[in-house]
Amino acid sequence: MRVTTRTIADKKQQHEKITMLTAYDYTFARLLDEAEIDMLLVGDSLSNVIQGNDTTLPVTLDEMIYHTKAVVKGARNYSMVVCDLPFMSYQTSEKDGFRNAGRVMKETGAGAVKLEGGERVCGTVKLMTDNGIPVCGHLGLTPQSINQFGTYRTRGTTPDEADRIKQDALALQDAGVFAIVLEKIPAALAAEVTKMLKVATIGIGAGNGCDGQVLVLHDMLGLNEEFHPRFVRKYLRLAEEVRGAFKKYGEDVRSGGFPSKEESY
Ligand code: KIV
Repeated sequence: MRVTTRTIADKKQQHEKITMLTAYDYTFARLLDEAEIDMLLVGDSLSNVIQGNDTTLPVTLDEMIYHTKAVVKGARNYSMVVCDLPFMSYQTSEKDGFRNAGRVMKETGAGAVKLEGGERVCGTVKLMTDNGIPVCGHLGLTPQSINQFGTYRTRGTTPDEADRIKQDALALQDAGVFAIVLEKIPAALAAEVTKMLKVATIGIGAGNGCDGQVLVLHDMLGLNEEFHPRFVRKYLRLAEEVRGAFKKYGEDVRSGGFPSKEESY
């Protein structure tokens, strides 16, 4: 049975943890779907890990749609696909955000969209949720605002910031989101927000008290060797293995060891 927003709500109610990882292409989406990861997030981290940009700002809506289509094809049986709305695709007006979220749903087959921000974006979120577009919120560290904050430090560490996050979470819930990503906030605050809400929270660098967890695929596979925040658990050291395979291939071709007779026609 495919995961839907209903499944996410049921899992929250039954205290069953929710799994989410990012995905950007068909091949990994197939593997993630086979592993029964609940949600595949086509994150705007695509800008960093696929396109090589320093921030998430440059990726366009057309590029997000292109990758989301591939991920939807790979998520054959189980996972629900969530597409990030990129910078400036929903900040310009409620109408623009609504139209662009509609494009994502219509052109990709994704099950939901995600956007960053709290009360500020609630009008846009409500327009979407009132019209059949499931929305996932995103609070705490919101990378699309990096130029405003100037740093990727932990958010919600002062009473004012913590109160803001709690208010924003309640406002997003009222606007109809089915889940909220909480990024890089203290574990105690994330646990408090999780208890406060009827909708699911998905943490990244937000401790174990959230309803679910998300990581960037390239980080957890150990493909991104330059990024070592404490919240990333590396399940593989894939960069090392891939580099080794490439070296061996080069040696084999150069020495004439590849292809062998058995590998030829
Ligand atoms: O773009 C992304 O990968 C994200 C996750 C970090 C939650 O938003």
